[in-house]
Formats: sequence, structure tokens, C-alpha cells
Amino acid sequence: MTRMKAVMKPAVAAACLAAAGAAFAAPFGGAGDLSYAGRLWSALKADGLVGKGAIMSAPYTGVHPHGAILDTIDARATVDGKTNVVIIKRNYGGKGVSKQAVANDPDKWLKAVTVMYKRAGYDPEDRDWFWVKYAPDGSVMKNPKGMSLAGKVAKGAPKGCISCHKAAPGGDFVYNHDRYR
Ligand code: HEC
Repeated sequence: MTRMKAVMKPAVAAACLAAAGAAFAAPFGGAGDLSYAGRLWSALKADGLVGKGAIMSAPYTGVHPHGAILDTIDARATVDGKTNVVIIKRNYGGKGVSKQAVANDPDKWLKAVTVMYKRAGYDPEDRDWFWVKYAPDGSVMKNPKGMSLAGKVAKGAPKGCISCHKAAPGGDFVYNHDRYR
């Protein structure tokens, strides 16, 4: 028993250190990510791509985890003087939601706005996408652990934006097409 404890202790200590280190160096949700997400939202809003009355596409039936009904648009946006491609996916839901209900009154059903914005040199390993999940009012949403979903979201973790989108065809992290390979 005593021997067992002696063996266990360093392992537990190492695990704690690793956990603390991981939390400290989280690749997303930091102050820089949040302020960048704010500038990105402002740029999208100025172009009528988010916010009330934003340009939208025909709503379609969604797949997990994005929502019951979705609409997705591709555009370009300028942040910090740099222009690049952006993909905006709106996630709609609620009791009684349908494609037509969303088309009639998108703001009523909007639950979240998930965005991929290409940022040159930002994350070369994972195709330089900046990931963010906004609430309809433009604030950044959080995961159940309280981490803000902006930046290299869940990079290195088995679940989350990056790991799931890694499986998208074409190796570009985009499911709907391969235009940004
Ligand atoms: C479990 C898998 C999974 C996770 C996690 C996930 N997505 Fe997706 N995402 C998809 C699938 C599948 C599609 C394509 C189907 C659709 O919804 O149209 C998609 C589509 C998208 C699109 C449209 C571009 C494309 O790839 O077709 C954006 C933008 C997007 N997701 C953003 C995000 C963001 C931001 C996060 C994290 C906050 C995230 N996604 C997390 C599976 C996932």
C-alpha cells in the first residue's frame, strides 16, 4: 500500500501539472482572440453579413452539431486592413422551427452564428482558419467549461471545431466545398 502510494504520487503530480499547463496555454478564448472576434463581428456587421436584416441564403435542414435549420454564406471581410474569405453559418432552432419559418423571420429563430475566417499565417497546420461561435448579439459563446469559443478552437483536443472540421473532404477544413484549398 505504502509502496503503491509512492508510485502513484509523481504520476498524479505530473497529470496536475499537465492539466494546469494546458489550461494556461489554451489555444483559444484568450483576450487577443476575443478582441479579434469583436473586430471581425464589426467588419461583418458593417457589410450587412450579420445582425438584424443580414443577407442570408435559403435555409436548409442541418446536421449535428450545427442546428436544426442552417443557412451558410461565403463572403470576404476586412479585419486589421487585411481582406480574406469568410464563411458564415447561422444556426436556427426552437420549438416549431422549419425552413419556411426561418425564411420568414430569421432573427426569431437564430441561436448562434458560427464563423470561419481565413487569417494568413495564423495557424498554418490547420489551414489558417480563425474559428468563432457568436451569439446572435455578437458576443462570443462559451463551451460548458466556460472557455470562450474564439481562436484556434479546441486545437489539439479530440472534440471541437478544428478536430471535427479536419475530416472535411479536400483537406481544407470546409465541408460544403473545396474552394479554399
Ligand atoms: C462534430 C463536428 C463539427 C463540429 C464540432 C463543428 N462543426 Fe462546423 N460543420 C460541421 C459539418 C458536418 C458542416 C457541414 C454541414 C453543414 O452544416 O452545412 C459544418 C459546417 C460549418 C461551416 C460552413 C463551412 C463548411 O465547413 O461547410 C462553418 C463556418 C462551421 N461549420 C463553423 C464551425 C465552428 C466555428 C465550430 C466550432 C465552434 C464548428 N463548426 C464545429 C461539423 C462540425
